[in-house]
Amino acid sequence: MAANYNNSAWFYDRLSRIVYGKALITAQVYLLGFIRPESKILIVGGGTGWILEELAKIHPAGLNVTYVEISTNMISLSQKRQTGQNEVAFINDAVENVKLPPDFDVVITPFLFDNFVDETVDNVFDHLHHLLKPGRLWLNADFQLTGHWWQNVLLKSMFVFFRLLCGIEASRLPAIEKHFDAAGYSVIEDKTFFGDFIVARVYEKA
Ligand SMILES: C[S@@+](CC[C@H](N)C(=O)[O-])C[C@H]1O[C@@H](n2cnc3c(N)ncnc32)[C@H](O)[C@@H]1O
Repeated sequence: MAANYNNSAWFYDRLSRIVYGKALITAQVYLLGFIRPESKILIVGGGTGWILEELAKIHPAGLNVTYVEISTNMISLSQKRQTGQNEVAFINDAVENVKLPPDFDVVITPFLFDNFVDETVDNVFDHLHHLLKPGRLWLNADFQLTGHWWQNVLLKSMFVFFRLLCGIEASRLPAIEKHFDAAGYSVIEDKTFFGDFIVARVYEKA
């Protein structure tokens, strides 16, 4: 079953703000700081699209963005965002089904992989890996467990909630690190947020 956030689109940002404050935003804005002018960017699972406005604050023009979202409701909200003079193409589909040219300078996956079971992680990772140019950046943000009891409680609650409401397939965090290692990526920089529960990492493709 696809991890489609349609049913939660209208309250998703408000809910995440209540639970995490600004941490989800701060983590992604940290990642956006690594993007160079004139980049060709692929954003996967951008949700309501606020990330496009944050991107336009840093680069008001010159970016070429492909924005892929499986949820129709999320895409409609995203299309209303102020994207400055940047060129943005919206694609409403599961990214693994979309044929794109393999010439991206940046791939962004913000809280995408934690929705998937291992098989989907493998598919999506391989697909995105081939779309990124060598020597370019993959910006990933996800949850991680670092041994605090409350992280498990929050994670389990999120899985139950989003499985019931949005049909997400996962029930544990995927070992995403392993994929980046195996594909030869190096970590340029990373930062954790919300008591280490959120990790934002900048990877460079070999
Ligand atoms: C946990 S939400 C995160 C939303 C946003 N990145 C944020 O931080 O506010 C995951 C998003 O990924 C989208 N999604 C899930 N699977 C996808 C896929 N295979 N291709 C594209 N988008 C997908 C969902 O519809 C949802 O909007």
